[in-house]
This record gives sequence, C-alpha cells and structure tokens, in this order.
Amino acid sequence: MLSSSEIRTKFLEFFEERGHTVVKSSSLVPANDPTLLFTNAGMVQFKDIFLGLEERPYSRATTAQKCMRVSGKHNDLEAVGPSPTHHTFFEMLGNFSFGDYFKRQAIAYAWEFLTQELGLDPQHLYPTVYRDDDEAFDLWQEIAHVPSERITRLGEKENFWAMGDTGPCGPCSEIMYDRGRETCTCGMEPCTPANECERWIEIWNLVFMQFETRDDGTRVPLPHPSIDTGMGFERITAILQDVDSNYDTDLFVPIMDKARELLGHSEQTMRENIVPYRVIADHSRAITFLIGDGVLPNNEGRGYVTRLILRRAARYGRILGFEGPFLAKTARIVIDMMGDHYTELERRRRFICDVITQEEERFLSTLSVGLSRLDELAMQLKEDGGDMIPGEEAFKLYDTYGFPLELTRDAAQEMGLTVDEEGFESAMAEQRERARSAQQFGMDAEGELYRRLELPSTEFRGYETCSCESTIMSLIKDGTPVDIATEGEEVDVVLDVTPFYAEAGGQMGDEGRLCGEGIRVRIKDAVSPVPNIIVHRAEIVEGTIAVGDKLMATLDEERRLDIARNHTATHLLHSALRDVLGEHATQSGSMVAPNRLRFDFSHLSPLTEEQRTRVEHIVNARIRENLPVETETMSYDQAVREGAIALFGEKYGERVRVVRIGDYSTELCGGTHLDATGQIGFFLIVNESSIGSGLRRIEAVTGRGAEAYVHNRLEQLKRMRDLLSAKPGEEMARLQDMMEQIRERDRTIETLRHQLAARNVDALLDEALNVGDARFLSAEVDADNVDTLREMCDHFRQKLGSAVIALGNIIDGTPMVVVAVSDDLVSKGLHAGKLANLAGQRISGGGGGRPTMAQAGGKDGSKLNDALETVREKVLEQLKN
Ligand code: SER
Repeated sequence: MLSSSEIRTKFLEFFEERGHTVVKSSSLVPANDPTLLFTNAGMVQFKDIFLGLEERPYSRATTAQKCMRVSGKHNDLEAVGPSPTHHTFFEMLGNFSFGDYFKRQAIAYAWEFLTQELGLDPQHLYPTVYRDDDEAFDLWQEIAHVPSERITRLGEKENFWAMGDTGPCGPCSEIMYDRGRETCTCGMEPCTPANECERWIEIWNLVFMQFETRDDGTRVPLPHPSIDTGMGFERITAILQDVDSNYDTDLFVPIMDKARELLGHSEQTMRENIVPYRVIADHSRAITFLIGDGVLPNNEGRGYVTRLILRRAARYGRILGFEGPFLAKTARIVIDMMGDHYTELERRRRFICDVITQEEERFLSTLSVGLSRLDELAMQLKEDGGDMIPGEEAFKLYDTYGFPLELTRDAAQEMGLTVDEEGFESAMAEQRERARSAQQFGMDAEGELYRRLELPSTEFRGYETCSCESTIMSLIKDGTPVDIATEGEEVDVVLDVTPFYAEAGGQMGDEGRLCGEGIRVRIKDAVSPVPNIIVHRAEIVEGTIAVGDKLMATLDEERRLDIARNHTATHLLHSALRDVLGEHATQSGSMVAPNRLRFDFSHLSPLTEEQRTRVEHIVNARIRENLPVETETMSYDQAVREGAIALFGEKYGERVRVVRIGDYSTELCGGTHLDATGQIGFFLIVNESSIGSGLRRIEAVTGRGAEAYVHNRLEQLKRMRDLLSAKPGEEMARLQDMMEQIRERDRTIETLRHQLAARNVDALLDEALNVGDARFLSAEVDADNVDTLREMCDHFRQKLGSAVIALGNIIDGTPMVVVAVSDDLVSKGLHAGKLANLAGQRISGGGGGRPTMAQAGGKDGSKLNDALETVREKVLEQLKN
C-alpha cells in the first residue's frame, strides 16, 4: 500500500518526467492579493500567467499546493468533523499548462496517471464534462476508451470552474470515483455521478482555462488556452489506502492516535467520539500550517481564522476530556509527518508550538466561564420557551470570553439552540463603528477633500534631488481651498513637483522650506492623504504666496539623511533578526524618524542578552562592510522571485521598488535610503519590549542619534564618577566599595537599634509591682508581632524571677495579649492560660494556652488596657490568698 507521501512524490515525479517544472507550494497567504483570504487552489500562484500578465521560464508546472477553504463566516466549517471528506486545510495536487498542451494531453495524462501509475481500475472511473463540450466528450472515448454512457454531461454549477467573480475560468471535466453500488445513499435509479450521492467521489478536476471574466462581467478569451488541474490529495490517498474516510488515512491517523494516547482512550472510545477526534485532527493540521505561514491568531481577517480554528479545536478537546492545553502536542505530530516536504514547518517548529500553547492557554482561561454563561442562557431560554440565543449575548461571549461566533453556534447546536447571527453582526458592527468614529474621523475627512479636488498627481523627485523648482497647484486653509495665503498663516500646499517625501511605510515626512523673492515658507511635514498627492504642511514666515506661484522647494538635507540612516538600518535589523531568531521574525510595523527607529516584529519571548548583542553586532558589521544600497523598479512577481521580502497582506502595485543592500537584504520599499551602509555610522538598540501577543518592539538609534545617545550615557557616567570621586575606569570598584560600606553600616545600625530597644524595655522593670515575694508587671508595649510579645515576656520573667507578666499591643489592627507565669507561681495555682482567657473576653475575643505561657486576641482594641487591668486584679487577688 502506498503511503501518502509516496503518492505525493509519485504525482510530482510523473509530471516532472513529462516536462513539468516542479514548483514549490506557495504560502497559504496569497501573495499580493489582499482580497483573497487564503490560497484555495493550486492555480492561485499562477493566476497572472494564465491572464498573460506574467511570464515564467517554463510552460508546464506541477505542484502539491497547501490550501485552505474556510472564510470565517460563510463556510461549511460545521461539516468538518461529521463529514468523512471535509477539511479546512488540504493539499491539492495539480499539473498546469500555460499555453502549452490543452484538453487532449490533459485527459491523456490524467488517465495514464490514475490507471497505470496508481493502478486504479478503469471500471471505477467516471468522467463528467461540461454540457456542450463535445470535444472533451469525444476525447474521453478516444483516449481512455470510456464508453459514452459512462460520461456524464453536467451544467455550469458542476463543470464550469471560475476562480471567483472575476479572473480566469473555463469549462472543466471531473473524474469521479465509483465506490460501488453498495455505498449508494441517493436511492435513485439510475445512480449516476449527476446525483448527490456518497457513492461518487470527485477526485480530479481538469479545468480547460479559456476565458477571463472582467470586472464588468464580460467574458473574454485568454491569450492562450491553458490547463489547470486539481486532485484532492486526501481523497486519492483514502481511495488508494482503501479506507472509507479521509480521516482513516495515514495523513490523519497518527494525529488522532496522539490525542487518544494523551486521553488514554481505547480505539472503541475514539470511534464513539469520532467527530471531536476528526475536528482535532483537521484543525491541528490547519493551525500548524497557518502559523507556519505567519498567520498568527488575532481578531481580524486571516488571523481570526487561525484563532477560530484553534479555539474550536480546544473546545472539542474539552468535550473529549482534555483539561489543559494539548494542541501543541498534536501539532508536533503534524510537523513530524509533514516537515520533510513542507520544510518551513520544521524550521519554525518551536515558534509554531509556542504560539499554539500561548493562544490555547489564553482561551482556556475564559472557556469554562464562557461555557457556564452559555448554560445559563440555555436554561433561561428554556424557561422562556425560546430557542435562539440573542445576538447581543453571542457578541458578549465573543467580546468577553473570546468565543468566535462559529464556536457559539457549534455549542448552541449541541443544546438544540440557534444563534441570532444577524444580531451578532450588528452588535459587532456597532462596536467597530464606535472605534472607527473615535479614531479616524479627521483622516477620512481630509482624504475626502482631496478626492473631491481632483488635483493632478504630484511628481515625486525626492529619490534624485533635495531641491527643485515647483509651482503651487493648490492651497488649502482649514479644509477649504484658497487662492492666496500671507505671512503668519498656516496652510497646506500642493505642488506640481516636489522633493518632499510624504509620510509612508513608517518613514516620517520631510521638513524644509519653499523660497522665492521675498517669500519664506517653512514646511513642517509632508503627507499623502490620497494616493499620488503630496500635501505640504506649511507656515508662511515671510511674504504672500498664491496658486500658480513658482518657488524653490528645498528639504532639510541633514534631517533627510538622519531618516535615511534609520531606514537603511531598519532593513539591516530586519535581516539580522531573521538570522538570529528565525524566519518567523518578520516585520509587522515600523517607524523611521530622524532621531530613532522603531521596529515591530513577530516573536514570542524577550530577546536574551546574547541575542540582542548578536543582532547589534551583525548590523554594525554590515555597516562597517559599507555595503552598497541599490534600488530598482521591477514587476512584483520578479521581485518576489528574486527573494525580496514583501510585507504580509499588503497590496503592492504591479511595478514595485526593490531596495537591495549588498547581498544581505532585499525588500520592497518606497522609502529614501543611503548610498552605502557605512553612512549609518553606528547602530545601537536602546530598548526591547513586548507590544501584545506574539509581537515585540525594538527601538534603536543610528548616526547622530547614536552619537547623542552614547554621549548622553557617557555624560551620566562622568557625573557618577564625580559623585564617587573616582578616576575614569575606577567607577565600578568605587561603587562596590561604597555598597560594602553601606552594608557594614546597616549592620551596625541594626545592632544599635536592638541595644536601644532592650534598654527601653528594661526601663519597664521599674514598674513591676511587689506582691509579697512575687512581682507583677503589665504594660502596653511596642511589638510588631506576637513572637516579639512572647520574647519580651520571657525576658522579663527571667529578670524578675518569681513573677507574672502580661504584655499587650495592637498588632495589624488586632488587640493581642501575652501572659507568662514563672514555674513557682504555677505550682501555687496561677495559670497563664486562664488569665489569657479572661483578658481575651475583655477584648471581645478569646485566649488560652499553657500554664506558663498563653496568649489572647480579640476585636475590640479600645479595651486592651482594661484587659491588662483585669489580669492585674485577678493576679493580685490570687497572690493575696
Ligand atoms: N482550480 C480547480 C479547482 O480548484 C482545479 O485545480 O478545482
């Protein structure tokens, strides 16, 4: 029997032998396409080739592609578990022709692979074709000798494949596998692949890519007819391994076995609880691959899916009996099994497991409370005769206990309830609206204004020059266009051409000036409220300016250079972090200012001293190497192929700017940089901290900023030296001496304090009463705790000989009394325990203990004195008798 990994290899090798280039699976996050949630088919990475927008050095390709099909909202996530063939994450095997072969060859290859390479019985294979695709219908008969009655013609829904509302599409031909008459569930006669029936499994879809659907809905022919095929890897594996469910293949069994082992369940118990087991197996794969591709759990978009799936698995784990986090353990099995082929999993093993455990722990801390809340709601609904959980409650579960809607829906379903999902959405929308209106009002208003003005694009010259002659295209004062502005006014200026860089990609806007005859304008910032328009925030220092004026626009070069030092250093830092911490340490945000830089990246734990030093060291070594910084504009795809780091989920244009630093760093970036790294001078990390789950922030300085920082620290060191009266280099030794002296003094003070306290205490001895041959002493004393009271009693008893001592104090708000009686008086019938009991009653408490030593405590501190008095009276009475 073939193992899944042998099947994958067989497929890729089969097509490689037939002239196909084996292309690596692309990431689950579609490159350069923020509109598509996840890569959901093998053709996604080839979309632009089909459309004729991109060329590759090959015209045939084959892949095993990582895919996710789940949208977070409208998905059939509920089918994952109950269904034997549904998955969130799956692999798709495919072969592709870009204007090379077409229908005939695609059908021939598929048939050869299934029947000869895999040895499937042709009698089990039933092709379907698109309604009027006679060509495909004939080819199946001619090439595969499938009799016409076994070929089914189906409509648009089944046999016309489109990537989405727009994009490449075409008629397709599917190969269905017949599991045998006995597996029929439709009960129809005849039972054919046209029926919804579990007998038929769709294993391979051959798409004859011929058209492109444009934005306006029209369908135009592609430049070249092409082929896109997709075979469900888990399904073909199930067929070849002769099992009824994908979950019984070697792709899932080891994961379920791990869960079973952790729970101590028998095979039988697992079968009885197969749904949760399958959910855990499916979801363990999904979260491992998602996090492996950098999709960390959070509340938005892709990250939300990771969170949802992970939490869903955790809840099913709870149903099975897991109490603590376990998903990292099942994820480890996934990595063990798949890490050979998908090497990114192996490389990021630790990170993946840590992220999973952290997120799982966070969720488990609210899961029980959330579930009890849900139980309460269910009970209430039952009483009121309802069966729908109100949207607001579902939202509260989401917002407070971290229950994704889908999870609430799952749990509700198990209780026979539904959820008001519309109500949930509107509660969610309200919260979003509140957040948005609080944050973004100002910015949107400005964007709106500039969109309305419809100004021509500003030409940016700032890559080549720091100064140029410009014409004023528009002046805006307080949100309204004006024709002129005079001395003392603050206005926004739009020019036809400008060297000023508008704040973008974390890099701050330039400062500088506009000058002309009798005109001086200070530019305090440059921003871009809408694409291609640069707005200069200006203050008119001298003269009057008007729309149409020609002025010299000159930016502050020193400041620009400071910013460039920090920006180029940011790229070096990014690469160094990936070298030291691992590939997962990718940028999530940055801020490049003249005096410092800030860099946010994914990583779970604080950097160790050693890691931090290594990062610093690498960056400084690259600076000393004085590597050239070069920029080049090219197509997005070429850039990515050449290894440029593109930021996650960011939308780039077709042409992108690539910034290359020697061969150490290549990034897509629109910022302004140095000519060579040597100009950075020196790089220093000044702070490293956490900024939320899985994200860390480094703050650093370079060039003049680093010089100022070092100068400042040395200045502090000098002041310290002066205070210590030390010579340079002696500071540490002096400080250590001083600290030793301080410790010595502390010890002396402590000794003296004790001596003083003892002397004060002994002064009390004079107050002891003489009662016959015995003495009696009672007093309120200073004591921090009862032990001190006891020690004092002991001390006095030794000094006074035959005596009774009663000492009291309020300790931490509680009145306490300790009574001590010398042995000789005990034999005369005095009893410390009984005396303490009397005292205790006076302070609204109680007391007792041994005859020689006992204590009392109570509530009423105001009666402490009375309590001591009571003891005194009792002792006098007893001693007199
Ligand atoms: N793109 C087609 C599908 O997803 C074939 O791979 O079914």
